[in-house]
Amino acid sequence: MTTQTRGTLPEHLLITGPEKGVLQIALNRPEALNALNTRLLGELAEALTDAEDDAEVRAVVLTGSRRAFAAGADIKEMAERDLVGMLEDPRQRHWATIARFSKPIIAAVNGFALGGGCELALQADIIVAGEDARFGQPEINLGIMPGAGGTQRLVRAVGQGLAAQMVLTGEPIDARRAQTAGLVSEIAQPELTLERAITIAETIAAKAPLAVRLAREALHKAQDTDLATGLRFERHAFTVLAGTADREEGLSAFQEKRPATFKGC
Ligand code: CAA
Repeated sequence: MTTQTRGTLPEHLLITGPEKGVLQIALNRPEALNALNTRLLGELAEALTDAEDDAEVRAVVLTGSRRAFAAGADIKEMAERDLVGMLEDPRQRHWATIARFSKPIIAAVNGFALGGGCELALQADIIVAGEDARFGQPEINLGIMPGAGGTQRLVRAVGQGLAAQMVLTGEPIDARRAQTAGLVSEIAQPELTLERAITIAETIAAKAPLAVRLAREALHKAQDTDLATGLRFERHAFTVLAGTADREEGLSAFQEKRPATFKGC
């Protein structure tokens, strides 16, 4: 099933599902290696806004093509923007919408994930990379720097030293290095990357949605707050879940030796 966003077919996205709770979104601008022009980014933000409101969507798989997840912001479009154009750029709004998305995103990354493409992958909760994936922040080669979270999220994902090397030299790292550094969770053969990401997404989609949501929020807190605040949030979230029917169902199902059926309440 191919889904439309707000009644119009997106030009640069292929959207499939949701099936078994998983919505698949594929970036589809092959002529530019999925470079994230404003239209593509806007369509992605819109698709995620729709997915946010759709209770059938429990997780999203985000992917590109075999050759490129995304080769960054559209350099040709960027070249046409001056300082004022950059300040009024709707892209910031689109990036903020993507960052606010509250359901798990599993990225299936083959080929190039560069610049904004790497920054987009960094917004995923879990990255499954093809053996040929390349992650990089080459903006420095263009006389600019990462502007969609690269300097901040990359440091948290791979550590200060490797992030500095990537951002300051512009040289990409391969899938193995990205996995060793903690950016990538799993490596798969390129033709199996999407399948593996879908399997992970379906596994998550079958869990209790409120538990997934709060666990994800707690994981995010680990990145943007101090330990004491994060632990406090975790304790509160853990306690809140004690009031859910899904917790009751999960605990009963275990004791009755049957699979749990979660309802999201
Ligand atoms: N923007 C616009 N077009 C792009 C693009 C980009 N980021 N990346 C690739 N393309 C286009 C190329 O111009 C080319 O189109 P034409 O055939 O019409 O010329 C087509 O995609 C295929 O690309 P190549 O011929 O260059 O393919 P290649 O295999 O030789 O090289 C590559 C692949 C190494 C990814 C190379 O295309 C490249 O270096 N791309 C730019 C990567 C980059 O610098 N990204 C950072 C952008 S800035 C940014 O991302 C900032 C931000 O978000 C805040």
